[in-house]
Amino acid sequence: METIEFGHGVPPMSRIVYGAWRLSDDHDTTPDHVLEKIELCLAQGITTFDHADIYGDYECEALFGRALRNRPDLRDTMQIVTKCGIMAMSDKFPRRRVKHYDTSAAHIRNSVEVALGQLGFDVIDLLLIHRPDPFLDHHETGAALDALVDEGKVRGIGVSNFMPWDIDLLQSAMTHPILTNQIEINLVNKAAFTNGQIARAQRDGAPPMAWSPLAGGSMFYPGDQVGKRVMPRLTEIAADQGVSAEAVAVAWLLAHPARIVPVVGTNSLKRIERIADALKVTLDRQTWFELWSLAEGDEVP
Ligand SMILES: NC(=O)c1ccc[n+]([C@@H]2O[C@H](COP(=O)([O-])OP(=O)(O)OC[C@H]3O[C@@H](n4cnc5c(N)ncnc54)[C@H](OP(=O)(O)O)[C@@H]3O)[C@@H](O)[C@H]2O)c1
Repeated sequence: METIEFGHGVPPMSRIVYGAWRLSDDHDTTPDHVLEKIELCLAQGITTFDHADIYGDYECEALFGRALRNRPDLRDTMQIVTKCGIMAMSDKFPRRRVKHYDTSAAHIRNSVEVALGQLGFDVIDLLLIHRPDPFLDHHETGAALDALVDEGKVRGIGVSNFMPWDIDLLQSAMTHPILTNQIEINLVNKAAFTNGQIARAQRDGAPPMAWSPLAGGSMFYPGDQVGKRVMPRLTEIAADQGVSAEAVAVAWLLAHPARIVPVVGTNSLKRIERIADALKVTLDRQTWFELWSLAEGDEVP
């Protein structure tokens, strides 16, 4: 599979990334089944895996790590992205009274140590601050992130759900560059194309990562308004090009000049198996806008 360069010592990542958020929602969370999904990804060249400390009520990083216990050799073939900063409510933290953000140096450092231990890796390839923190001390957070890179625990730093001004603030207190912003981008939520997030990524030459590239599946639900408008054309393109409708929706992101990196989240082995087909799809400018207009319910102004 084609790879994507974030530069600055971060290894090339696969053009499509597999997200681990829903791993614990699957009917089968045994190490063997998780490994099956990982192996299906790797077989297609999806070598980059996206995590966060909070996924699956703080369980997904450990599920992933356990799945690799019998195949430690696979670790050298993968890249790991993980995130921290959200303090979710959980029985595991009974003293936590309110969901909040913590971007303090101590919390970030602890999250990295926990992630490395649970995943069973020596280094995190990209560490993202999960959400912009309204209580951010950019000097403290920036210095903590820089130090983790300098110490070799993390290869590169990114952010998630940041607006351009949030990136400016954190970057102003860092020496290492912010290499990506992981944001929601899909046919149902196209805001990033016009709210400055993608424009900023293009200006920085920093490929954005797109979470929920299939809008979390909602575009496939029969009652979904955007889905109703988009699905007939998606299905037609899919049939013409011999791929699935999911692959076409992912290809719509891949086609964009910002070099968007979709982070797919299906648990279905069948869907995982066909997702790399997205790279075979060709969408010209007018077809891209045709899907945009169908999603919007109107032509561009
Ligand atoms: N940074 C952030 O704030 C943030 C937020 C959310 C997610 N993420 C990352 O992004 C990754 C992907 O998010 P996502 O899981 O929402 O991505 P997604 O790929 O848009 O959605 C996956 C969901 O769509 C369903 N789906 C796919 N095709 C379908 C179809 N034809 N019909 C019905 N349902 C269908 C899947 O169900 P099946 O499993 O049955 O296929 C699954 O539940 C996450 O794993 C996480 O790593 C990041």
